[in-house]
Amino acid sequence: MPEGPPKVALPLNESLYLLHPYNATLITTKTPDGQNNVATIAWIIPTSVNPPLITMSIRKNRFTYPIIQETGEFVVNIPTFDMAETVLRAGRMSGKNIDKFAELPFTARKAKMVTAPLIEECVAHLECKLWKTFEAGDHDLVIGEVIAAHVIEGYFTKTWDITKFRPAQHTGKEFFTTCGLETIEIKF
Ligand SMILES: Cc1cc2nc3c(=O)[nH]c(=O)nc-3n(C[C@H](O)[C@H](O)[C@H](O)COP(=O)(O)O)c2cc1C
Repeated sequence: MPEGPPKVALPLNESLYLLHPYNATLITTKTPDGQNNVATIAWIIPTSVNPPLITMSIRKNRFTYPIIQETGEFVVNIPTFDMAETVLRAGRMSGKNIDKFAELPFTARKAKMVTAPLIEECVAHLECKLWKTFEAGDHDLVIGEVIAAHVIEGYFTKTWDITKFRPAQHTGKEFFTTCGLETIEIKF
């Protein structure tokens, strides 16, 4: 086999971004005194089917972090590519000093099972109860159990209809991409 193109060594902190793109999500919470907040989280993965668990990697200094620990709940909202600018802005401001629901074009709607709000403009929502938290370097692994989930009708039948859903995929820094329209099914 002929030699491929040369590969260059990367600083280790940059190497994590080789794993991107990741679908950016909008995590909503409500403080015990009733303030809604939203934060952008791209480091989030499915973790267990039964019980249905997801894990996000979040720094302790986010306004979102202590709210999740105190209230024990949050919602993972799935935005679309056309929302990328708002998704970035939600991840560059903190609820510590700004009401992001007032500043950004997000509409809060009542969730089914948790007090944290849904974002109407998002295509899907996973309502979660805090399951466990683990320290991991400079981020914590916050694991949530999904207790309700809903999606726009016609967008998802066991898998996403990628002709309808265009995820806001974060490639790093201020860059976003989305899926192409091609889906292939591998017969196996
Ligand atoms: C595209 C994008 C992805 C982000 N992903 C994460 C993440 O996975 N974990 C994290 O702790 N912060 C992440 N952030 C940073 C937080 O969104 C940011 O610190 C935000 O201000 C937190 O809001 P809060 O203080 O209101 O909770 C991301 C920011 C952007 C723009």
